[in-house]
Parts: sequence; structure tokens; C-alpha cells
Amino acid sequence: MNLTPVRMPVRASDRLVDKYDREFPYLRLSITDICNFRCEYCLPDGYHCRTRPEFLSREEIRRLVTVFADLGVWKVRLTGGEPSIRRDFSEIIEMVSHLPGIKTTAFTTNGYRLLANAEKWHDAGIRNLNVSVDSLDPDLFHKITGHDRLKDVLAGIEKSLDVGYDQVKINVVLLKDINDNALTDYMEYIRQRPVTVRFIELMQTGDNLAYFKRRHRSAQVIRTELVRQGWTENIRVNGAGPAVNFTHPDYQGAIGLIAPYSKDFCLACNRLRVTATGDLRLCLFGDIGIPLRDLLQSDDQMPALKKRIIKQLDHKKSSHFLADGETGLIPNLSSTGG
Ligand code: 5AD
Ligand code: SF4
Repeated sequence: MNLTPVRMPVRASDRLVDKYDREFPYLRLSITDICNFRCEYCLPDGYHCRTRPEFLSREEIRRLVTVFADLGVWKVRLTGGEPSIRRDFSEIIEMVSHLPGIKTTAFTTNGYRLLANAEKWHDAGIRNLNVSVDSLDPDLFHKITGHDRLKDVLAGIEKSLDVGYDQVKINVVLLKDINDNALTDYMEYIRQRPVTVRFIELMQTGDNLAYFKRRHRSAQVIRTELVRQGWTENIRVNGAGPAVNFTHPDYQGAIGLIAPYSKDFCLACNRLRVTATGDLRLCLFGDIGIPLRDLLQSDDQMPALKKRIIKQLDHKKSSHFLADGETGLIPNLSSTGG
């Protein structure tokens, strides 16, 4: 593999800053839409290939990330779908994490291959891991995801802690009458483990309106309970992103809340997204997708790509309009990489 970087001149004005003075050090890059799980809120009927999309090749990914790194991005999260479904996943990690300017390569997974691969992916360059675990009860986990795999996923997390990832987080999508009473279980889980559990409010997408209405629960219930039990809300550091974190002296782990419907959620937005087919999404719920793929075909297009990205950032709105029921383009999160 040719890892020789293509450097472009960096000017101060080339940093990614939008009209609201937000900087974007963080790129979430989907590398596939495909997922083998069938999470009720995301792909209840499993992944269906509509038009046989061709996902970005390794070369296209190299050009894309090189340009974003030149614009100040230093953290890349590989998402999907399930990123590890790609056969060249390890090679992608290796390539992305060695590009100049990239300090942290992270990845979000449903954990189904974690036990077997935790070491390999760490060696390839992943430092931060987010694993979805919507329930610590095996039957409920099975019901939510369509897979009876809780034991394997938890074993994979254990293995990751041994291997020495810098950060291991668990994502829990908060679901009314399904897991909104499970806080105590998760607290027990992190008492002796340096893991951050993040409760994510269910988001409405193009596909899940009925489910959303039935299952959406405000993260406020978790917040109230945490405060009652003596957890402290950490002061948000600049550039930390939209999660609010809580800690407690008796617990090694932490608890985070991601509440996209809360006031000011978007003020801390520090991320841009690129879909698995190379569209830039300025907001998860935005209604503009800007194709970048036509400028990913050769190294000499990279300056033009850079210009396009800078120009498009002007369109990033101050906030999403979820509260008005506007979900933007996405049918579900497997198509934009949460
Ligand atoms: N609302 C909130 N979170 C979601 N995820 C997927 N779909 C939704 C949704 N509609 C979560 C996944 C994963 C993360 C990337 O996004 O469970 O943890
Ligand atoms: Fe797959 Fe993640 Fe969607 Fe579940 S939430 S179906 S693991 S992409």
C-alpha cells in the first residue's frame, strides 16, 4: 500500500469554521451501509440492498481523509452500517490512522466480531471504540437487535479493555418501556470498568416515525436519577461535542447523555459526516447532501475537493429542526452512520 502523503499548502483560512464559529476537528465517515443486525429502531427488517451501491474505495477514502486532515480534522470515526463488514476494514484503519494529521481513529460497532478482532483492530490503529449495547439482558438484547449475541458482545468489550484501547464506550439508545429502567444495571456494569455508557435519545428518522412515537423517551429521566444518586455533571470542555458526562467517585466508568432534542444540543456540534457513497452531510438531520465523489478520483483533484468542502460549510445551519418533525434526508441511521 502506498502511504506517501500528498501535502497541500495550509493557510490559516483553510481551517474548517462555520458561520457560527464552530470548528470541525471531527469527521464521521461511513464506509458501508450494510449491517447484519436488525435493530428495531434502525433496520427492523434488516438491510436491503436497494440499488447495489458501491461504497468508497480505499483510494477514495485516502484522498478524502487527506483533504479533511489538511483542513484541521484530526479525529476520524469509521461508522456504517457495520464497518467491520468490509473485508478491507483492517487495511482502511491502517491507512487512515497513518495519514498525516490524524491523531485518533475511532470506530462504532455492534460488536459482533469484536472478540475475535479487538487485538487486530487495535494493532491496525483504532484507539477509541463505541459499541452498541441496548440492553444487558440477553433476551431483551436479542429482541431489540434480532441477534442472540449479548454474551459475545460483552466478551468483546472485556477483551478490548485488556488490549488497551484508550476509550471504550457503550451506546444505549433509550427506549420507553424497554430499557428506560435499566440505569441500575449499567451503573453496576461500570462500577469496576473504565467504560462510558452513553444514553442516546431515540431520534426520528424517515423510516421510524411510528416506532419513534411509541418509544421516544427524554434523557431527562436519566439525568434526574443520576443527580439523585450523587453523580456530578462534568463541565463541558471546549470541543467536547454534544454529549453531557456524569461521574461518581464510587464508579470507574462514566455516564453520558446525548439528547438531540434538548435546547442548545447543536451549539457544541463539532462534526461533519460523509456517507459511504461520498456525500458530505453537514448535519445528521440536514436536508443537503453534497456529492464529493466526483472529486475523489485522482490526487490532482484534491485542491478542488478542499475548495468545495470549505464553500459548503457556509451552508451549515445553526441547528437542526427535529422538533418540527423535519428529519432531513436519512431513512435510518445505517445510511448516515449515526
Ligand atoms: N436514534 C438514536 N440512535 C440511533 N442509533 C441508530 N439509530 C438511531 C436512532 N434512530 C445509534 C446506534 C449506534 C449509534 C451509532 O447510533 O445504536 O449506537
Ligand atoms: Fe446495525 Fe447499528 Fe442500525 Fe443496529 S443501529 S441495525 S447495529 S447500523
